[in-house]
Amino acid sequence: MKVGIIGSGGREHAICHALSKSKKIDKIYCFPGNAGTAQNATNINLNLDNFNELKNFTLSNKIDLIVVGPEKPLVDGIVDFLEKHNIKVFGPNKIASQLEGSKIFTKKLCEKYKIPTAKFGIFKNNNDAKKFIEKTNYPLVIKADGLASGKGVYICDDKVEAQLAIKEIFEGKFGKAENLLIEEFLKGEEMSFFIISDGKTIKNFQTAQDHKRVLEGDKGKNTGGMGAYSPSRLINNKLEKKILDKIVKPTIKGLKEIGTNYKGFLYVGLMIIKDEPYLIEYNVRMGDPECQTILPKLDSDLLDIFIACCDEKLDTTEIKWRNKKSLCVVLCSKGYPEKFKKNILINNIDKIKLDNDEYCYHAGTKIIERAIYANGGRVLNFICVSEDFHKSRNKIFNLIKLLNWDSGFFRKDIGYKVINE
Ligand code: AMP
Ligand code: GLY
Repeated sequence: MKVGIIGSGGREHAICHALSKSKKIDKIYCFPGNAGTAQNATNINLNLDNFNELKNFTLSNKIDLIVVGPEKPLVDGIVDFLEKHNIKVFGPNKIASQLEGSKIFTKKLCEKYKIPTAKFGIFKNNNDAKKFIEKTNYPLVIKADGLASGKGVYICDDKVEAQLAIKEIFEGKFGKAENLLIEEFLKGEEMSFFIISDGKTIKNFQTAQDHKRVLEGDKGKNTGGMGAYSPSRLINNKLEKKILDKIVKPTIKGLKEIGTNYKGFLYVGLMIIKDEPYLIEYNVRMGDPECQTILPKLDSDLLDIFIACCDEKLDTTEIKWRNKKSLCVVLCSKGYPEKFKKNILINNIDKIKLDNDEYCYHAGTKIIERAIYANGGRVLNFICVSEDFHKSRNKIFNLIKLLNWDSGFFRKDIGYKVINE
């Protein structure tokens, strides 16, 4: 079979690597991929805003399956478009992708189906939002409605911060804003819970905890994710049942009632407060770096799982996992998540020799005349799977030491809640 993967991050390199282990695949394309995916696949640069380019390439190269990594093409309707042209594609359709594409869509669903989430209000203009923040309690959370690459969320400690958030969102910092959302601040511990669905059957796809802030101790600016570990320390059978019964199943039911179903990965971003789950957000894709952290524990053929989802046969497909601890540390370019230099040589990368159950997934890298250069904020993901988190993290530190890349930095405290030093 021939498979195409859309995306260029660590998540897509991890998917590419997992698929390359399937005996049923003889060719993988990545659109556009990175220097890492080039080891297992052919990277192709297309204009992904023009779905016709992808359709034409897929048909003329007889690609059997397209896997969509990031949210933007999903929210823009790539699944509906490709399916209309009889191309098999793994991911949710445009309506279902509103779960990530519009926070207000999700909040309204929560309201209708009594899904536990933060109390909220929707505001259509500056004046109403400003009136509300005069007489409310702090901290509170202000969010832009649409996709904002994780940046359209403000945790405000006082009125001045709230005023700035409202101003920036309505001035269009995250794209044209017709609405904004003001939410109650939930105090608890976060957890990422993943499922996979074919529209009929739901199966768990593990849990993880990511570290979104740039500085140690979970301080500083939000990033795409500085590292993660799986499983989350919070998960147990009782909590899992609550998440499925109170959050996931009512959501799937809600989508059915508006005439659609959910196929693909669903990332359930939760706040756990006194053993009760509250929905913070949905993402209609795997997390990054959670995907890189989770996939090395998979003990089944990922291609079989994707095909079963497309063919609505997930009920008869077994998903096996190794009962191990996986930890991921992300190596970033100095300056990230703000300004950083591009096209910096990663000189020692060939010194890295990966042991069994050690992985190095690329994110912002590219090949120039056979050498590997950093061209993004998050550059390399180091993952190790073992019996304990501490051991996994130490092995990762040894790999990063070998690389000795002085243009990069990483957090040394990933997994601090599950590692006693
Ligand atoms: P989101 O893009 O909605 O996931 O928000 C980004 C981050 O902001 C989340 O991972 C949380 O850390 C935080 N956050 C969002 N909403 C809330 C909330 N209602 N209460 C507390 N923290 C929140
Ligand atoms: N790790 C957070 C995300 O993928 O959105």
